[in-house]
Amino acid sequence: MNRLFALHGRQSSLVIEQAASGLVWRHWGARLPDAIAAGPGLESGRPVPTFSLDVPVPFTLVPTFGLGWYGQSALLAHRAGRDFAQGLADCSALQQGQRLSCRLHDAVAGIAILVEILLDPATDVAQITTSVANIGDGVIDLQWLAAATLPLPAQPLAVRHFTGRHTNEFAEQTDTLGHGIWLRENRHGITSHGHVPGAVVLGPGCSDSAGPAWGAQLAWSGNHRQLIERLDDGRSQWQLGGWLAPGEVRLAPGERHDSPAVLACFSPDGLGGVARNFHGAVRQRAGARPGPRPVLINSWEGFYFDHDPVRMMALADAAAAIGVERFVLDDGWFAGRDDDRTSLGDWFVDARKYPAGLKPLADHVRGLGMEFGLWVEPEMVSPDSDLFRAHPDWALQLAGRPLATARNQLVLDLTRADVTDHLFARLSALVADLGVAYLKWDHNRDLAPAGDAAGRPAYGRQVAACWALMDRLRAAFPGLEIESCAGGGGRIDAGMAVRAQRFWASDCIDARLRIGLQRGFLQFLPPEMMGAHIGAERCHTSGRRFSLPFQALVAMQGHLGLEFDLTRLDAGERARLAGWIAFYKDHRHLLHGGAVWTGTAGDGVAWHAAGGDDDWLLIVYRTDMMLQRHAAPLLLPFIGDGDWQVAEVRPGETRAATRFSGDWLRSAGLPLPPGQPDTATAWRLQRG
Ligand code: GLA
Repeated sequence: MNRLFALHGRQSSLVIEQAASGLVWRHWGARLPDAIAAGPGLESGRPVPTFSLDVPVPFTLVPTFGLGWYGQSALLAHRAGRDFAQGLADCSALQQGQRLSCRLHDAVAGIAILVEILLDPATDVAQITTSVANIGDGVIDLQWLAAATLPLPAQPLAVRHFTGRHTNEFAEQTDTLGHGIWLRENRHGITSHGHVPGAVVLGPGCSDSAGPAWGAQLAWSGNHRQLIERLDDGRSQWQLGGWLAPGEVRLAPGERHDSPAVLACFSPDGLGGVARNFHGAVRQRAGARPGPRPVLINSWEGFYFDHDPVRMMALADAAAAIGVERFVLDDGWFAGRDDDRTSLGDWFVDARKYPAGLKPLADHVRGLGMEFGLWVEPEMVSPDSDLFRAHPDWALQLAGRPLATARNQLVLDLTRADVTDHLFARLSALVADLGVAYLKWDHNRDLAPAGDAAGRPAYGRQVAACWALMDRLRAAFPGLEIESCAGGGGRIDAGMAVRAQRFWASDCIDARLRIGLQRGFLQFLPPEMMGAHIGAERCHTSGRRFSLPFQALVAMQGHLGLEFDLTRLDAGERARLAGWIAFYKDHRHLLHGGAVWTGTAGDGVAWHAAGGDDDWLLIVYRTDMMLQRHAAPLLLPFIGDGDWQVAEVRPGETRAATRFSGDWLRSAGLPLPPGQPDTATAWRLQRG
């Protein structure tokens, strides 16, 4: 009998069969017993269909083109036009605990592949990477390498994925999967606003809180590609990997290319189950958890480029007085930066705006008990900057092609060591001199053209160099936190989450829009990493107006910040805002680090619950005018057994609790008050 390799999680299993034809996918889905009784091998006794090779090529871990696999290939490569067909039947697998290392070998084409699968039983997430090595003579041109090729069952399936644009990221889409190929590709050079590098596949009956769901996301901050294709036996294959430009990866003999990691999980608990598994895995990959997420004030929408030390100090005073814990000085502080047309690259304090430098402001902020944070956009250079005048060759470019600016700026070529050394020196000096605790690291354009000095595509190496620069800086300043921003949500992914502790989810603070947008973010990454702000009453990007309680309870889903000119508030408004900040501090142990459940309940109701086991904060949003005369009770699928005390909570006020049984809340639901559109209520639910 063929050998089976099985990795088991809490609720999922993954099984690969070693057959004569290679390492063949048998199962990725519901948990199987530890001792699998799988009967004969997949191919034994399976008749050969008409018009087929007499020995058909099965669905392996790395299906490859050219020798009888007619589906999408997990590898596309050639050696000067030869060795275009690969056969990887010669393979071995080594299982050590939860890790499976699979070596696939093609002596004829001179290619060796290593697939590493590590299934963490605590989170149910498998981390999968694939590397390809040139073990032959002559250069290999790599066109495509799937970081993972995953099997999906022969069932009716749909895929939940996300599109968007600057100021409207994570727009939810659901497509039914049929016989064609479902394909998403991103060639923007960064993770992108419109192509989230992951998806969730929904099995029959899958909902927010129940039913079979398969999730995967690529931990990569650059170009990417994912596809789902129906196979001959009704199953489907799901491939994810970095998208490669023509000529981007050429492997000399002995060289190797490593894919980014894919995080993949199956959950029987629907979209929410996948999200919670991903949260666990991303937290684990990020390593030591930073402390409670401090409330921050960001200067951008309050001041834009209009910097003045006296007003900034007044902003800091006003912020500290209402409980803010971190002050972030956004764009506009450096030499000559009065608008977005100049100065990127000249990371020196603007002496016109800050004659005594930034030290007095940073010290003032710290004197008020807050941390000092600073906005930078290290990978960028303005054509109108001293840096570009001194080093025009430092920008990514292609000889003979125009320099294409976006937001009037160019991208530095981070594949050059002199560029990254320069950036490291400049950023280190700022961090050390000013005692910067937090860098908001922006990237305000896509890459095009992304040519290096040799005229070769720099995309993937640019990502690796940016990650390395961040890692180098964090190693030099171990307490330093980084917020990843790319015009809001252009660089949000599980790879960046290893080095950034926060993501600015969107440049749009519109609370109504943010409910769906943040739900999309939370499908892949945990709430404590999601930057969410209370802005001006009239949202700058949408023009819509929202009340403070609604804005606060939307921002409460993530890492809370403020982004408007607090100095304009009257005493009553400051007191109310201080109340919401205290409310956040009282609940952040529930909001962050634990389980998150989200859902919609019809008639304009959306909800978000965070916490775990015996203690939850539930926030209920009304996004539209009620159609029903009475609100329907809200079913709470996350509630465990036993008795629960349920009380509406507001800043400084907890209303009388009502006792419910867990069964009741799950099945009959929590009675909800009626409400107007764009309002929210919060409830504390405690067992006992
Ligand atoms: C980007 C960011 C904003 C702000 C501006 C500054 O758009 O997303 O938050 O920092 O840049 O120019």
